[in-house]
Amino acid sequence: SLIIFIEHDGTRHEVDIAEGHSLMEGAVANMVPGIDADCGGACACATCHVHVEPAWLERLPAQSEMEASLLEFAPDPTAGSRLACQIRVSPCLNGMTVHLPAAQH
Ligand code: FES
Repeated sequence: SLIIFIEHDGTRHEVDIAEGHSLMEGAVANMVPGIDADCGGACACATCHVHVEPAWLERLPAQSEMEASLLEFAPDPTAGSRLACQIRVSPCLNGMTVHLPAAQH
């Protein structure tokens, strides 16, 4: 599925991510800046924080308690805040757009 990452400065990255892989894995494999993923996807660092556009947010599975509690401490929280390592790509997410927080660049 095609996922669009938009950096804080407006730079756009269209990344094709295979079904079952996480948004974070796709971003790292395609060298999208701003997704550091320090913990390697263990839901423990919040350096894969993204802001999901509202239209797409409702298609995502609910946050786990662990994801929600990590996001409480992430800089630049919004209603669309999610951890990219906790989102698995599926065909219904084709075209999803996420923005990178200002603190991650
Ligand atoms: Fe560390 Fe997502 S990669 S929380």
